[in-house]
Amino acid sequence: MAAMAAGNPFYITTPIFYVNDVPHIGHAYTEVAADVLARWHRQAGDDTWLLTGTDEHGQKILRTAVANDTTPKAWADKLVADAWLPLLKTINIANDDFIRTTDERHETAVVTFLQKLYDDGFIYSGEYEGYYCVGCEEYKQLDDLMETPDCDYAGQQVCKIHGRPVEILQEKNYFFRMSDFQQKLLDLYESNPDFIQTESVRNEIIQFVKQGLDDLSISRSSFDWGIQIPRDHSHVLYVWFDALLNYITAIGYGSDDEQFERRWPAVHVVGKDIARFHAVIWPAMLMAAGLPVPTRVFGHGWLLVGGEKMSKSKLTGIAPSQITDTYGVDAFRYYIMSAISFGSDGSFSWEDLSARYHAELANGFGNLASRVIAMVIKYRDGVVPVAELDPVVYATEQRVTLEADAAIESLAIHEALAAIWQLVDDLNGYITVQEPWALSKDPANAARLDTVLATVVHGLGTLAVLLAPVIPDAAARLWSAIGGLGALADQPIRTAWEWTGGSAVTALETSLFPRIESPEPAVA
Ligand code: ME8
Ligand code: MG
Repeated sequence: MAAMAAGNPFYITTPIFYVNDVPHIGHAYTEVAADVLARWHRQAGDDTWLLTGTDEHGQKILRTAVANDTTPKAWADKLVADAWLPLLKTINIANDDFIRTTDERHETAVVTFLQKLYDDGFIYSGEYEGYYCVGCEEYKQLDDLMETPDCDYAGQQVCKIHGRPVEILQEKNYFFRMSDFQQKLLDLYESNPDFIQTESVRNEIIQFVKQGLDDLSISRSSFDWGIQIPRDHSHVLYVWFDALLNYITAIGYGSDDEQFERRWPAVHVVGKDIARFHAVIWPAMLMAAGLPVPTRVFGHGWLLVGGEKMSKSKLTGIAPSQITDTYGVDAFRYYIMSAISFGSDGSFSWEDLSARYHAELANGFGNLASRVIAMVIKYRDGVVPVAELDPVVYATEQRVTLEADAAIESLAIHEALAAIWQLVDDLNGYITVQEPWALSKDPANAARLDTVLATVVHGLGTLAVLLAPVIPDAAARLWSAIGGLGALADQPIRTAWEWTGGSAVTALETSLFPRIESPEPAVA
């Protein structure tokens, strides 16, 4: 036997979310996408690590805490325990770690990083004068702002994203020499065209950097909820500088070189709203520290409700449990991954969810599984015939596996699902054409019926292996119902069609995706 060789490293992250409020399905969307990619790679034998977590410092959290008569740490503790950790259970995220920016391991490593940048001359003190949006936690230029028709704020400049007035800051701050990195960043984008995805996010960022980069104010002195600047405790670190570092502090930067070397660099999955922080500030910080830049920054699209980005601040958030309570977690995961091209915006509606659920999961996939299992029970007493597999279907299994894997490699999750669904449709079509119920009537067709049944059971096994990353529970139920050997999560996904075994089936106690009469939960 070969020595236990760790597979290729695959380190993937989600943003760390602000704990000013509870999660909605926009946050769940990013989590599920990263989880599907991580599960796929893990099941392929890659040395996989999925990191997620929470962003807890800064003025936005401080103000929320004060408004709720508590301290920011107590507020964050409560939100993490009551909302953000439970989210991961609700949507079945198999993360390897969860980092909070208030973790000691994070704060210590951030100080190490700052000290290094300071020692190497990338930090100086100066004076910042300009605009700041607390909603974005971002320094703003005049063209990021607009006059608003909202009479509450008449005559004031408001942030284009949050529609609320910005603050005007005049502070003595520490600065990071980000302007030094303008050309190096442009070179990076050019030499590594996949570094920023999607293409439109990439173009926007290149335009932005070409206009010139200012040095970045990285400290604030008018409040104290943050990591103190080493040697000047009257300043706390700018919350984005703090937050971005989570991706390396969580894997041992400054404390565990072996773990750090093993994992870094990462693929960052983020919403396009924050792609710029990840593709401009973050690689500049890493370059300054002499560290490798991320493998990729993928800026996905927005979940829209009524044509607008679903958001906490606009109160359009739908809680993931509103969907999972009715449809189940697998259906939620499948829906958001298949209905929206990963990278594009997509509108959420209960009608669309219900329509796709019934067409694709209940009738398409679930019904296929039930029928096949029922036929093996009816015609062969539950014993899967040992027979030659139909080569046409077997070739399809191989083809869709390779297509799906290639799609995952380019982070096109919806394309992977579309490839896998060709197999669902082909198996349904195959049954219609082969008419096993007709074959069963004449003993002379017994061998042919064996082949048809063995073929469709094999197809189901391949589907279980391929769908495990997206619908882990339903796939595991199917795998065990067709007598799949070993844990589903251990079945090599890149060669899914090669699985063997499974000598007997057992009836599913309930359909994998039962019909749901009332598609939208009653309004509470
Ligand atoms: O920006 N559609 O945190 P945040 C799709 N703490 N995705 C959405 C979404 C929507 N309607 N709404 C939110 C922050 N998201 C910082 C990140 S990382 C070092 C620091 C997702 O709580 C999407 O991933 O505002 C977006 O980028 C993220 O939530 C913003 O989360
Ligand atoms: Mg936000």
